[in-house]
Amino acid sequence: MSEAHDAGERLRGRIAGTVTMDAPLAAFTTFRVGGPADVLVEAETEDDLVAVARERGPAPVAVIGKGSNLLVSDDGFRGIAVRLGRAFREHERDGDDLRLGGAVYLPAAARLTARLALTGFEFAAEIPATFGGAVRMNAGAHGRSMQDVLRWARVVNLGDGSVRTAGVEDLEYMYRHSALGPDDVVTRGQVWLEPGDGDAIAARIRRLIDFRRTTQPTGRSAGSVFKNPPGTSAGRLIDEAGGKGMRSGGAEVSAVHANFIVASPGATAADVWTLVVRLRALVWRSSGVELEPEVRFLGEFPLVETEVQREIEG
Ligand code: EPU
Repeated sequence: MSEAHDAGERLRGRIAGTVTMDAPLAAFTTFRVGGPADVLVEAETEDDLVAVARERGPAPVAVIGKGSNLLVSDDGFRGIAVRLGRAFREHERDGDDLRLGGAVYLPAAARLTARLALTGFEFAAEIPATFGGAVRMNAGAHGRSMQDVLRWARVVNLGDGSVRTAGVEDLEYMYRHSALGPDDVVTRGQVWLEPGDGDAIAARIRRLIDFRRTTQPTGRSAGSVFKNPPGTSAGRLIDEAGGKGMRSGGAEVSAVHANFIVASPGATAADVWTLVVRLRALVWRSSGVELEPEVRFLGEFPLVETEVQREIEG
């Protein structure tokens, strides 16, 4: 029994949501790889999240959104994984604004804005993330990102159990970055939009989706693996260094877009991680740029971590 299991026992039956012990996480990620979490909490109220903060003790906690930007170790996670349940999938119109729950799927929200004839959120149509995850990492596409539309977000901190409403200016947004930390869960927020033509919005969304289909691979991936370094593109750097098509077990650097790693069924998290390490070393050698992952890693990847140090330092 780990500290997480102990906390899971304390939470069981005491929250509105569900507590599952030794819960496989692979199905909650778009890579579809990785092992179990000691505990999975699916929260249905903000109080559930506060209860996790109160009962977690020393157990590590990780928030899992759509799992579209996440690699879980094959050994799993010796902590409490937290997901937002159905209650956080709600939306509400407020004038030309839209309030969205943290678990709302961004492409679904974008389609909704077409039906409501509200413009400004089209870019979100091709981002496979939850609203809460997107707010936290300032997800974006086509030169727009969450910082351009957000007014405020409700945030529960799984460290101290605090609940607050943060204005967009409090979030210190930068490219794929905000002031929100790993313990912060965005439970809902409000985006500002403008009246538009529903058909034109729907047409723009279709164009963006078509564009994505020709420039980015389908298949099990986590989107861009690395952040774009200032002034350049991680995909281009990897491509120029000859990384396309590089394989490790069941994982492959996409031939469509070099900043994507695609996991075939049967791939392991170690396969993906090995490619991450090799790509960093490859680009560092060919252009002197140290790529910073955009994907989050959950659990331990000890052996390969040593390899990163060796390749980059040596
Ligand atoms: N390029 C190559 N080879 C490749 C891939 C790209 O030469 O294999 C070149 C392209 O030709 C282009 C440049 O690199 O000139 C930039 O590529 P692209 O337009 O595909 O955009 P990106 O910078 O790679 C960013 C976001 C994507 C987002 C797209 C479209 C990051 C790390 N990536 O990609 O976001 O969908 O723009 O807006 O910011 C994500 O964050 O997970 C993600 C997919």
